[in-house]
Amino acid sequence: MEKIELHTKSRPSTVFCGGGALDLAAEYLAGKDAILVTDSNVCRLYAPLLKEKFPAAHIFAFPAGERHKTRSTLFSVLDAMFERGLHRTSFVAAVGGGVVGDLAGLAAALYMRGTRLVQIPTTLLAQVDSSVGGKTAIDYRGVKNAVGAFYQPERVFCDPLFLQTLPAREIRCGLGEIVKTGVLSALIGEKIRRNADKLHDLGFLQTLAADCIRFKAGVVEQDETEKSGLRKCLNLGHTTGHALELLCGRRSHGEYVLIGMWLETFIAEGEGVCSHEYAEEVRALVRLAEKRIPAFPNAQKGLEFALLDKKNAGQGSVSVILSKAPGEYAEVILPADRYAKYLALLQGGAQ
Ligand SMILES: NC(=O)c1ccc[n+]([C@@H]2O[C@H](COP(=O)([O-])OP(=O)(O)OC[C@H]3O[C@@H](n4cnc5c(N)ncnc54)[C@H](O)[C@@H]3O)[C@@H](O)[C@H]2O)c1
Ligand SMILES: [Zn+2]
Repeated sequence: MEKIELHTKSRPSTVFCGGGALDLAAEYLAGKDAILVTDSNVCRLYAPLLKEKFPAAHIFAFPAGERHKTRSTLFSVLDAMFERGLHRTSFVAAVGGGVVGDLAGLAAALYMRGTRLVQIPTTLLAQVDSSVGGKTAIDYRGVKNAVGAFYQPERVFCDPLFLQTLPAREIRCGLGEIVKTGVLSALIGEKIRRNADKLHDLGFLQTLAADCIRFKAGVVEQDETEKSGLRKCLNLGHTTGHALELLCGRRSHGEYVLIGMWLETFIAEGEGVCSHEYAEEVRALVRLAEKRIPAFPNAQKGLEFALLDKKNAGQGSVSVILSKAPGEYAEVILPADRYAKYLALLQGGAQ
């Protein structure tokens, strides 16, 4: 079992990663007033196990999927908390993927100005990324994560047992954030390249998960609320990823991040941020996880969504986080028309 401490200013957070983490969560919440917030899929698969491990907790499940990461789902969670008479010292345990973690985390931040929060991530993406670092949100008015708060969970319990029921597509989705971390950290990138044949081996993914969490913890500790700019590096691939996600919505977040990273290597190369050789290296890394880059015939329409991105400081331009070299990144602000030209590269995809 790996134990990773996050010494964040708002509240320290401890991540447990490995077999037995769910039992630790059960011990932590034993005898406490708690609501387990989850989604319909996780509830269908794991309700008996959750009832066995958390016999006294209330379970509230909302319909699965990004399209339910909304104001009305948020308020349905808050309603459930009120109806069950939870108070400030009660716990919210988010048991699910990134959608559950983000939404239940925001409910915990808002209820009575903040209840206690633990994250029990059940997707690879949530275990390697979203459950750690304290970003919580819902989507609002067509903007991803537009309404949210920084709210650290006091504990995160990443148990690999949940990964056994994940469809292959969701594993690929988690690989999106893993590959992103591999671009930001030369060490992790090298580990991915050396073990390219093991990217579907749950044991190997578990070791990568701990590496990614340690890397993210280091970034978040230095820039918890994205003030100094360092935390922005975690948005690599996300400007384009989010724009495509809002444009098409058929795939999942991590896959769009992979496609976004692929496209943004062309921006980095075209804008003189990195060399052609390095851009090719990053593209090769991305394609270990996303073999085929799909075609987006209406890719340029993604511009209107990219313009809504939270990173944009001004009107009419798009902020993109680009990798310069292993472990180095730059934020580049592109005029809308220039960014749209790059987006057009996605029209034909890549085999
Ligand atoms: N807060 C952050 O720092 C952060 C970082 C990255 C992504 N995110 C957010 O995370 C979300 C994406 O997370 P996700 O990819 O986990 O999506 P998700 O929560 O929608 O989960 C994906 C699918 O897997 C199902 N599922 C969950 N656990 C399962 C299991 N153990 N077995 C079988 N099926 C299971 C879910 O019901 C869902 O259908 C996005 O909304 C994104 O914005 C947040
Ligand atoms: Zn992401």
